[in-house]
Amino acid sequence: MTGIRFEEVTKAYDDRKVLDRFSMTVHPGEMKIVLGGSGSGKSTILKTVLGLVKPDKGQVYLGDQNISQMHEEELLQVRGEIGMVFQSGALFDSLTVGRMWLSSCGSSGNSAMK
Ligand SMILES: Nc1ncnc2c1ncn2[C@@H]1O[C@H](COP(=O)(O)OP(=O)(O)OP(=O)(O)O)[C@@H](O)[C@H]1O
Ligand SMILES: [Mg+2]
Repeated sequence: MTGIRFEEVTKAYDDRKVLDRFSMTVHPGEMKIVLGGSGSGKSTILKTVLGLVKPDKGQVYLGDQNISQMHEEELLQVRGEIGMVFQSGALFDSLTVGRMWLSSCGSSGNSAMK
């Protein structure tokens, strides 16, 4: 089992700062519940662990792996090891249809979509 560590993570969408130097550690085997009002950033935290959302500042570690600095190919491996139920259907709402399809085929699609 692997732990998760957020170190001073900041994330803004346009000019709306959702995470402001957010730090948290989830130790291996530990369960944490994140509570907050609608729009407070809970899903953003989870998507950051999967590398679907990139922090503007700060680091996110899965065990000793720094998620924030991984390439798409490495992130695909991480995503294959983490289960996440999305609140609105089973699609990545942060990906385009094309990128989602390419991800399911095992390719990041970066070069194909440029
Ligand atoms: N890709 C995006 N582009 C622009 N704004 C976004 C994006 N994703 C989230 N937001 C905005 O960031 C804020 C935090 O969103 P997030 O989904 O993390 O909140 P949440 O705590 O999970 O909310 P809820 O309880 O409604 O699920 C919201 O104001 C949301 O509209
Ligand atoms: Mg949410």
